[in-house]
Amino acid sequence: MSVPRSDALVLFGATGDLAHKQIFPALQAMVRRGHLDMPVVGVAKAGWDLERLKTRARDSLEKHGGLDPAVFTKLSSLLRYVDGDYRDPATFTQLRQILGDAKRPLHYLAIPPSMFATVADGLAQAGCAKDARVVVEKPFGRNLASAQELNRTLHRFFPEEAIFRIDHYLGKEPVQNLLYFRFANPLIEAGWNNRHLESVQITMAETFGVMGRGKLYEELGAIRDVVQNHMLQVIACLAMECPTAKSHTALRDERARLLQRVRTLDPSDAVRGQYRGYKQEPGVAADSQVETFAAVRFFIDNDRWHGVPFYVRAGKCLPVTVTEVLVQSKRPPRPVLDEPGAPPGNYYRFRLSPEMVLALGTQVKRPGEIMVGDRIELMAHDQPPDEMEPYERLLGDAANGDETLFAREDAVEASWRVVDPALDSAIPLREYEPNTWGPPEVDQVLAPEGGWHNPSPKKATQ
Ligand code: BG6
Repeated sequence: MSVPRSDALVLFGATGDLAHKQIFPALQAMVRRGHLDMPVVGVAKAGWDLERLKTRARDSLEKHGGLDPAVFTKLSSLLRYVDGDYRDPATFTQLRQILGDAKRPLHYLAIPPSMFATVADGLAQAGCAKDARVVVEKPFGRNLASAQELNRTLHRFFPEEAIFRIDHYLGKEPVQNLLYFRFANPLIEAGWNNRHLESVQITMAETFGVMGRGKLYEELGAIRDVVQNHMLQVIACLAMECPTAKSHTALRDERARLLQRVRTLDPSDAVRGQYRGYKQEPGVAADSQVETFAAVRFFIDNDRWHGVPFYVRAGKCLPVTVTEVLVQSKRPPRPVLDEPGAPPGNYYRFRLSPEMVLALGTQVKRPGEIMVGDRIELMAHDQPPDEMEPYERLLGDAANGDETLFAREDAVEASWRVVDPALDSAIPLREYEPNTWGPPEVDQVLAPEGGWHNPSPKKATQ
C-alpha cells in the first residue's frame, strides 16, 4: 500500500552537531539523486538567520564528504529558517507560516529527548502535527521505564505509524546484507542454528575517545550509546526468522519477536570498562562511573538459538576502528586423518564498518605427504562508489512513510528490558589502557570458546 510522501522537512536542532555531521551531508546526497525537492526548514534558538544557516550547511559539507557546488545551490534554495525558543508558541506560529500550504511535514527532532514533549506540544498547538511524521534519534529513553514514558508522550501527539525512531545501523548496507545473505542462501540458512553454530561475536571498536562529547557521553555510557540499540539490532538481523510477508510490518514483527526472546541480562554476563584518561576529558566528572567499554554475553531463548552465546564488545580507545561479526561453527566431530585433534571448524566473518567484507573461514589440506590442513579465508569485498549512507537512506524512507528500517516501540522496549540490569553502577567498573582490547577481566570471565576475535585493521585477515 503506498502512503503519501511528506511535503516539507522541519529540522529541529538545525544548528547542532548531528545536523552538521550527518543531516546536511544526507540532504546534499538526496538532492544529487533527485530525491529532495521539498522545503527544508531549520529551527533552533541560536540568534541566527537564514544566511548563517546556509553558511553552516556549506561548512558541514566541506568537512563531511565534500561540497558539490551545483547541488549545494539547489539545496540552499530549499532552506528556510525559524529562530526561536521551543517553549514559545510564537516559534511554532512562525513555523506554520513558513510551511505555507504544506500538509504532511516531516519533523526531525535532532534535540535532547527532554525537549520532545515541549516540541510535540508546540507543533500540535500550531496545527503542525496533523498528518505529520516525526523522526527521533537514539537512544530512545534512558531505561525501560523512561522509554515507555517517552512513547506515551509521543503517542499523545502522533500515532505509532507516524513515529520514526532512527537507529542508523539499520540503514547500513552491510547490516541489511546480513538478512539478505542468510535468507537468500538456503545452504547457509540450513546450518544457521544451534546444531551447527558454536557462538557469535560482534565487536564494535573505535580508536578514538569521546572527542569533546564528554558531557553528552556522561549521560550515556557504552551500553546506552551502542549496545541497547546498534548491537541488539545487529543481533536481531543475525538471529531473526525470515519474514513471510512482503510488508513493512512483517520484517519489523520478526525483529521485535527476536528481541523479545533475548534473555534479560544477568550482571555476571557483562563487564564494564573505562579507559584511563576518560575522567580528564572536558565535561566528564572527576569520579565518573560511566563505562566507555562493555562486553556482554546474550542468550536467545528459542529453539533455534538455545545454548548459543552471542558475545558483544563495544568500546572507545580500542586498537582499531571496525565493526565486525564472527559466526563460529562447531568443530567437526573427530580429527581428520593424520591430524592430532579436530580442526577448528568454519566461520563467517562480516565486516559491517568502515567497509563491507564477507569472508568464509575454511580448512584445506596443506600440500605434502600427510593429511593435515591449514585455515584459509574465502573473501569478498565490496564498496560500491555510489552507496547510500545510512542517514540519506533513512531520511528518504521516513519522507516516504516507509518504516521498515526504523525501530518500533515494542522492539525498543524489549531492548531496554534486556539491558536494564546492567545499566549505571550495577556492574563494577574496570579501568583499561587506551589502545588495548578493554579490561583484562574480559578475557578471564567472559571469553568465548577459542577466545575473542580481535578484528585486524586490514580487510583481508581475520
Ligand atoms: C553513534 C554513537 O550512534 O554511533 C557513537 O553515538 C558512535 O558513539 C557511532 O561513534 C558509530 O557509528 P558508525 O556508523 O561510525 O559505526
